[in-house]
Amino acid sequence: PPYTVGYFVGSLAKNSINRRLSTALVKLAPPELQMSEISFSDLPLYSWDYDEDYPQVARDFKASIAEKDAVLFITPEYNRSIPGALKNAIDWASRPYGQNAFSRKPSAVIGASAGAIGTALAQQSLRAVLSFCNSPQLSAPEAYIHMTPDLITDDGEVTNESTEAFLRGYMDEFSAHIQRVLTVVPQQR
Ligand code: FNR
Repeated sequence: PPYTVGYFVGSLAKNSINRRLSTALVKLAPPELQMSEISFSDLPLYSWDYDEDYPQVARDFKASIAEKDAVLFITPEYNRSIPGALKNAIDWASRPYGQNAFSRKPSAVIGASAGAIGTALAQQSLRAVLSFCNSPQLSAPEAYIHMTPDLITDDGEVTNESTEAFLRGYMDEFSAHIQRVLTVVPQQR
């Protein structure tokens, strides 16, 4: 440590509940994690036509992943799957073939929903994608956050003590996961 973590907020919405969750997670992260957002809202829709000459916005996006020790996905569930904008960003990061920015990069997945199953299916979809992208994921704890209107304030204060403790523990486990991945196979990075 310290470790740099780039986080993706899967929603583009101004008042996103997942953005609120991200603010809380940044506050609750242990001091060795240096958190910064990786934005993807300026990326065009991916096609492999771009592979021979990636636009600057996509080069910058990929560089912002490459320079981080790990990535965290904080995502809503849209129609029982990954939001399209987030999947588009992952597709950009994974190409051109052989230059996948996620390979061997430790990751974790978390999400909030107003619905009772709290993004479980979106997270399953995302985990399958990250597996294919060769990113070693935090397996446990899983984190399906059932968001109620007052659970997290706009400035990221968690109003429920047990949820706050759970989220803090989640970030501690993520930190331990990053440390395991980076220390076991440093020669491959
Ligand atoms: C949703 N929502 C939703 N919720 C859920 O639990 N499972 C789902 O499959 C869906 N599907 C879905 C599709 C689309 C297109 C939208 C806009 C919404 C509701 C969703 O959880 C709610 O809008 C959250 O506020 C989305 O998170 P953000 O965007 O606020 O972070």
